[in-house]
Amino acid sequence: MVEDAKKTAWFTHDRFGLFIHWGLYSIPARGEWIRSFECISNEDYQKYFDEFNPSDYNPSLWAKAAKNAGMKYAVMTAKHHDGFCLFDSALTDYKSTNTPCKRDLIREYIEAFRAEGIRVGLYYSLIDWHHPDYPHYGDRQHPMRNNEKYKGAAHNFDNYLKYMHGQIEELCTKYGKIDIFWFDFSYGDMRGEKWKATELVRMIRGHLPDVLMDNRLEASGEGFGSLASGSPSEYSGDFVSPEQIIPPSGILDVNNKPVVWESCITMNNHWGFAQTDKNYKPADMIVKKLVECVSKGGNMLLNIGPDAKGRIPPESLDILAAIGRWMTLNGKSVYGCGFAGIDKPEYGRVTKNIEANTLYYHVTENQIGYIPLMGLQKSRIKKVRLLSSGSEMQIIENWVTSNYESIPFVSFGDSPLLPDPVNTVVEVELLG
Ligand code: GLC
Repeated sequence: MVEDAKKTAWFTHDRFGLFIHWGLYSIPARGEWIRSFECISNEDYQKYFDEFNPSDYNPSLWAKAAKNAGMKYAVMTAKHHDGFCLFDSALTDYKSTNTPCKRDLIREYIEAFRAEGIRVGLYYSLIDWHHPDYPHYGDRQHPMRNNEKYKGAAHNFDNYLKYMHGQIEELCTKYGKIDIFWFDFSYGDMRGEKWKATELVRMIRGHLPDVLMDNRLEASGEGFGSLASGSPSEYSGDFVSPEQIIPPSGILDVNNKPVVWESCITMNNHWGFAQTDKNYKPADMIVKKLVECVSKGGNMLLNIGPDAKGRIPPESLDILAAIGRWMTLNGKSVYGCGFAGIDKPEYGRVTKNIEANTLYYHVTENQIGYIPLMGLQKSRIKKVRLLSSGSEMQIIENWVTSNYESIPFVSFGDSPLLPDPVNTVVEVELLG
C-alpha cells in the first residue's frame, strides 16, 4: 500500500545498516547461543553478569566507524535470548545497570548513533532463557530443555508476556524516537498471537507510529511470514529478514509485488563475539554482496560482535574502513537504488536510481575490449561517467564493436586491470 511505501521509503533508500550483537556472551566469547549449546543454567551463567564491565565501551567510536563505512542505520541488541537487558529496565534486576559497569548501554548507543545522524534500531529477543515463566523443559532450544528438574514445571507464560510487552513499552517511551524494532524469533507454535502480537504491535504503533518492524513476530530466518502472502497480518512487520543468505532473485509476494527485505549477515560466522572465529569475509566480498542486495531490491544489515571490553574487533574495524573507502566514491550507486529491471550482466550487476533516472553498471570482472552496457538503448543515454571520478566515458563505436551496433560499449582504457579492482561503477544518466 502507498502508506507502507512512504513508511519504508527511508529504509529502502538507505540500504546499508549495522547490526550489533553484544552482551554477557561476549565474555565466554563463543557466540551468543552458548547458553543453549552448552546447556548453561542461570546459576552457572551468573558469573558473567557479576564480571561484566566493558571499560572500553565508547559507542561514539562505534557510530563513527559505522558512519565512515557508509551505514545509515543501526540495530543493537537490547535483550538477546539469554535475557540480559542492556538497558535500565524497571521490570528486572537482570540488566546492565546492575552489573559492575552500572551503565545503560542502550541509551549511550542511541545517543551516540543519533549524534552521527544514524537512525537507531533495537533488537529485542522474544525468547528469554533467563525468565522463570518462559518454557524450559522440552522447548526447542532452552538451555534447560533436557533437564528433568524442569520437567512438568509450571510457567506462567502470560506473566512472561506481560514482562516482555512491558519492556518493549519501556523501549518505546524512554529512549526517544526508535526507527526499527527488530524482533527475534518465532518458532514452532511460538509465533503470532502466542506472543500476543496484535496487542503488542498496536501498543508499539501507539507510541511510535513510524517505527519499522521485521517479520519475526511470525517468522524467523526461515519463512517470510504473511508479509509475502499478499494479505499481511497486523503483525507481519514491514520487511522480511533473510538471514545469512541473499535471496537468489529478491523477494516477491504471491502477487509478484516486490517485498521490502533486508539480509542480515555476519562478518565472520558468529553474531556475538567469538574469540577463535577468524573467518572474516573480505571487505571486497561484502561490497559486492551489498551491491547484490541492492540490485535485487534489498538491504544489507552487516553485523559486528564487540568483545567483553566493549571494543569492535580490529578485523571488523578494518573491514568497515575498507567498505567505507568504496562507499565514499560509489555510494550513489547504492543509496536510493534498487532493482534495475535489466538482466545481470556477466561482468557484475546493475542498480537503478529510479528518481534520478540513472543506471549504475557495477563491473567486478574486466572484459576483453570494452564493457557492454547491456539492456540499454543508445538513444536513451544522456551521459556516461565513471562514478568514482566523474570522468566522462564515451560510447565506443569502431570495428571491434561493429557487429553489435545496438549495444553501447564503454572503455576503461588500455589496462587489463579495472580502475577499481573491487567494483568499478559506470554511471549512466538517462534521457527523459
Ligand atoms: C538467529 C539467532 C540469533 C541472531 C539472529 C540474527 O535468530 O538465533 O542469535 O541474533 O539470528 O538474525
